[in-house]
Amino acid sequence: MRMYDIIAKKRDGGELTDEELCFFVNGTVDTSIPDYEISALLMAMFIRGMSERETVTLTNAMAYSGDTVELSRFGKLSVDKHSTGGVGDKTSLIVAPIVAAAGAVVAKMSGRGLGHTGGTVDKLEAIPGYRTSLSTEEFLTQAETCRIAIVGQSGNLTPADKKLYALRDVTATVNSIPLICSSIMSKKIAAGSKNIVLDVKMGSGAFMKTPEDAERLAREMIKIGKGCGRNISALITDMDRPLGNAVGNALEVCEAVSVLRGQTRGELFEICLSLAGEMLSLALEITPEEGRKLAADVVASGAAFEKMKEWVKLQGGDDSCLEDTSKLLTCSVSYEVKSPFEGYITAMDAEGIGIASMLLGAGRKTKEDIIDLGAGIVIGPTVGEYVRSGDVLCTLYASDASLLIPAAEKYLSSLSAGDEKPVKKPLIYRILR
Ligand code: URA
Repeated sequence: MRMYDIIAKKRDGGELTDEELCFFVNGTVDTSIPDYEISALLMAMFIRGMSERETVTLTNAMAYSGDTVELSRFGKLSVDKHSTGGVGDKTSLIVAPIVAAAGAVVAKMSGRGLGHTGGTVDKLEAIPGYRTSLSTEEFLTQAETCRIAIVGQSGNLTPADKKLYALRDVTATVNSIPLICSSIMSKKIAAGSKNIVLDVKMGSGAFMKTPEDAERLAREMIKIGKGCGRNISALITDMDRPLGNAVGNALEVCEAVSVLRGQTRGELFEICLSLAGEMLSLALEITPEEGRKLAADVVASGAAFEKMKEWVKLQGGDDSCLEDTSKLLTCSVSYEVKSPFEGYITAMDAEGIGIASMLLGAGRKTKEDIIDLGAGIVIGPTVGEYVRSGDVLCTLYASDASLLIPAAEKYLSSLSAGDEKPVKKPLIYRILR
């Protein structure tokens, strides 16, 4: 088999065989195929697209290109969640303890933040002592003991995706639905959970800018997940505004704790109930409505917050910081951004607010950057609220005062205001099963 012929076949609109796709993935991992041939095929796939069978085969080949996590000891109870990335998205910190308190098992690998989006692993590292790296044995034993273990992605999980994603990033081939699907789903398949709930974000702060694109991506991922033998559903949710009020790692842990203690309600709580409801529906074989009710019950009884403390303590974290979240707030300077305008906030550019948080030190411009876990933004009034000149719009936290003004300017430029109260868009656009 020759890579040249495979590239030419796809270039001309042909459908690749399973053997050809496996040859491509194997040669990518063992470095027998040079980067220029891999890139040429990626571009042909980007332009010509891929059939469902091709995407399933590619996903499976990528999933099994390195280490995989074996969760079969948990039977049907293992459940994972994946968000396509957003600003202020701390839902994993909230839904994992809810779902575990209700009887399912969340043994999951999470990512780090890059650019304007945050990552669960960074947020967890804001809890002193929390170990984001465990041996396989520790990871599985912890999941057996308390039904949650959340770690960073292990070194050799889906090496094919690492290589392909790095090449897509520099060859303008990221934004292809089959390639995004195979990239995300290969990692989910390798991570081992029987059940998967996807939170596909749409809007200014998301990868998919329109509801139509988000829905196409979600439908494809559902097909691929089912094709690979997983139970799967997807929520399509709005990322035209940040999720909740906190953006930044320690600040988001504080907000997650407040939700689990029943002190914060609103949109963040609602989306967490829906995600947890879907996860419980798949793992416990109940209806999503029953799952949602169960989720609300374990928050109301305090069981979900107790589960979070048990999990964090077992994983080496200082659980007293969850009882007293002021211990997490380590930044030396803060600054209230006052409104220069009067009127309704009509829109908030989530990406801009994510960048403001990054400018404060809470996010990474490049993978190598070191982040300030205490830095970030607590958002005040949001879309639909009326503000007067001089009202506080948000509070910024940083460790270096010189970072405050550029971040304040970015925050202000991310808001739009007007005289008419805007119609607020629903947070959950659609649930696909
Ligand atoms: N996230 C991924 O993991 N892969 C993609 O291709 C896009 C987003």
